Amino acid sequence: MTREEIEKLDDDYEVCYCMGTTLGEIREAIRNGAVTMDALKERTEAGTLCGLCESREIDDDGDREVHLDEILAAYAKGS
Ligand code: FES
Repeated sequence: MTREEIEKLDDDYEVCYCMGTTLGEIREAIRNGAVTMDALKERTEAGTLCGLCESREIDDDGDREVHLDEILAAYAKGS
């Protein structure tokens, strides 16, 4: 998913079903310096249970619309 597509999602969009982590919480964590997968997981707890929200490769059934690695790629590099 591109940054433009991610931008269209609301802050309350739930990215991590297991931990209830929203896109807004993830955006804020990245703004505050959690720019690696490990840091993002530690800060938000997203991706720390089943792990399916981490990447499209892990979520091979495509249950989730957007994944943590896509959000990191969109925001953490300042693109
Ligand atoms: S959906 Fe994120 S850890 Fe399960």
